[in-house]
Amino acid sequence: MQKIYLVGFMGCGKSLIGRRLSYFLKMPYYDMDQEIVRRQGMSIPEIFERYGEAHFRKIETDFLREFRDEACIISTGGGVAMNAENRKIMRQTGLVFFLDAAFEDIYKRIRNDKNRPIVQSSTKEQLYELYQYRRPFYRQAGHIRVLTENRSVRQILDYIAFQVRRLKGGQ
Ligand code: S3P
Repeated sequence: MQKIYLVGFMGCGKSLIGRRLSYFLKMPYYDMDQEIVRRQGMSIPEIFERYGEAHFRKIETDFLREFRDEACIISTGGGVAMNAENRKIMRQTGLVFFLDAAFEDIYKRIRNDKNRPIVQSSTKEQLYELYQYRRPFYRQAGHIRVLTENRSVRQILDYIAFQVRRLKGGQ
């Protein structure tokens, strides 16, 4: 088990937790969306607009298939866990943590984000439906579910670090 993947809905804190976890566990950190933007030379909204969501999904799977063989932390995009092959790759190459946040908290963080095309094209009700639809897939993807509501970043980091030690120790 080499990598640590963070999955969950947009705005659940994957990037923040990933960055902090990287210091905490002394492992390199990669933000999948940022890596894709860098490689494609285009923002996520541009990729969606020019090539469509299906193409973006293919890029995500290619990223997971090809990413370097290195012990590292990867925060994934919110749609990554929807795809069975993505879930399989993540579970085979690492430990997967589902950051489970309450919808209202998530909504406050993402509602004005111009860089998230799905937020831009959806109403609050549609986002809530998507959130409900996706939760079982995040649960399927994750080895461990991390409840983030009413927990500080520090408490979340402690919990993940504890689980990493426990699961790696049990290998
Ligand atoms: C998406 C989430 C985004 C990004 C893209 C699509 C989704 O990542 O990959 O806008 O389908 O939920 P974040 O979860 O980091 O916002």
